[in-house]
Amino acid sequence: MLAKLHQDHLNIARLLELLKSKLNAIHEERPVDYALVRDVIDYLREVADKYHHPKEDLIYDYYLKYRLVEGNVSQRLQLEHASLVETGSHLKEMVEMILMDAVIPLDQFTAKLAQFVALQEGHMNYEEGVIFPHLRDVLTEDDWRQLEQQWQNRAIGDPLFGPEVSQHFQELARRLSLPVI
Ligand SMILES: [Fe+2]
Ligand SMILES: [Fe+2]
Repeated sequence: MLAKLHQDHLNIARLLELLKSKLNAIHEERPVDYALVRDVIDYLREVADKYHHPKEDLIYDYYLKYRLVEGNVSQRLQLEHASLVETGSHLKEMVEMILMDAVIPLDQFTAKLAQFVALQEGHMNYEEGVIFPHLRDVLTEDDWRQLEQQWQNRAIGDPLFGPEVSQHFQELARRLSLPVI
């Protein structure tokens, strides 16, 4: 389970790199494919917010429930998941408006986009550096089996990095040079 979450992080990092290159393009006043920016945001909202983070929450909640955790338990993981959802939905609104040719101050958009990228990166570093090593140390084979079972009903095929790319993400997959089936 952790290996899959780690792979998700690598995939998300690729998408964030793409967003950063778009930020640079905007700063340098080069043309930007906003539809592609929207696709990245859609992917993160559809997959990261609905499956990746809930899976992490499931594991973390299990860990808190079944292991004795001393002291003040950090709410940071859940709080960050919530603020990623919120920032993502603002960003989605903004990029949709840009695509409809509404007048949106570009500096507001770039500030929001930069904030979103920084939030995502900080969050992944926190998980990889603090949360995952902890779970790795503490949870047993048996715990992971239980968790796999609990998760099974909610698993989906990844519509971008999975074996089949959905219609929605074909263009994004091409840009990332992923095999499109
Ligand atoms: Fe997360
Ligand atoms: Fe994560």
